[in-house]
Amino acid sequence: ADVAGKTAFITGGANGIGLGISRALVRAGANVVIADIRPESLAQAKADLGADAQVETVQLDVTDRAGFARAADMAEARFGPIHMLIGNAGIGVMGPVLDARYDDWDWGLGVNLGGVINGLVTLLPRIKAHGQGGQIVTTSSQSALIPVNYSAIYTAAKAAILGLSEAIRGELTAENIGVSAFMPGPVQSHIAHSGELRPAAYRSDSGYKQREDDLEKRPVSPLWMSADEVGERVLAGIRANDLYILTHPEFADGMRTRFDAILASMPDETIHQERAGEIGFLLSN
Ligand code: NAI
Repeated sequence: ADVAGKTAFITGGANGIGLGISRALVRAGANVVIADIRPESLAQAKADLGADAQVETVQLDVTDRAGFARAADMAEARFGPIHMLIGNAGIGVMGPVLDARYDDWDWGLGVNLGGVINGLVTLLPRIKAHGQGGQIVTTSSQSALIPVNYSAIYTAAKAAILGLSEAIRGELTAENIGVSAFMPGPVQSHIAHSGELRPAAYRSDSGYKQREDDLEKRPVSPLWMSADEVGERVLAGIRANDLYILTHPEFADGMRTRFDAILASMPDETIHQERAGEIGFLLSN
């Protein structure tokens, strides 16, 4: 669907990928509400996008459900009905599973998965209610398709986001709400600084403190894709209502290898025709 004149609500939109998506949407004529936990990044983003842009910013921690509803109220007061949710806020919570403590799991899943869930629960009823249709974009990751080492918590969240996006797509077709799962490969961003966002409540029982300090020093590789290039890909995916938005064909062989291995594990038996019919019904939306 066209995005001109429509309103997008983007979480984690003040840096990196979310800012790239915001730029692309603004250029395409959309109204953009950027919700982010970092107030200084919000101010910077607003300045970057220009005084003439149809942009509103709001400080929001995506784990704060009441705050999410207030942010949505504010967005509607400014621009009217919200059409697009870009559930993009995320943190790079990485480390060996043997070091992962409950604070790491709870913070990582709370932001990376819980933030997307809170966006859906807050905004889906509002998008349905205005009846003009809309689009949900969830920021999963290439790592949902090819998990990398030391990413247990991150991958658990990103694979869940991919699965839930696939699961709701058929259900929402009747409401004229599209769904896209966005699975970027490496992109230049601020994600190595996620550790500074870890709330005090999730610090005492963490096994990842040292890792987060080390990660802060990791330089952003010039080989990683730019956030603006990624933003344009997401915009194209929204316009086409693509279920999958991917960025890096370099991962295609790995994906093929993984899925071939899954298929090769299928029991080699004759297909039970009646059972196939029943399964077809389960899959039919
Ligand atoms: P980034 O750190 O540059 O941007 C993330 C934004 O989310 C920041 O502005 C941050 O302040 C905000 N944020 C973090 N926690 C928040 C919270 N609790 N509530 C509200 N806002 C919060 O990182 P990047 O890389 O742009 O990440 C965006 C999304 O892309 C994330 O979901 C990340 O997992 C995903 N991703 C990034 C990849 C990369 O290579 N950069 C690859 C695959 C996925």
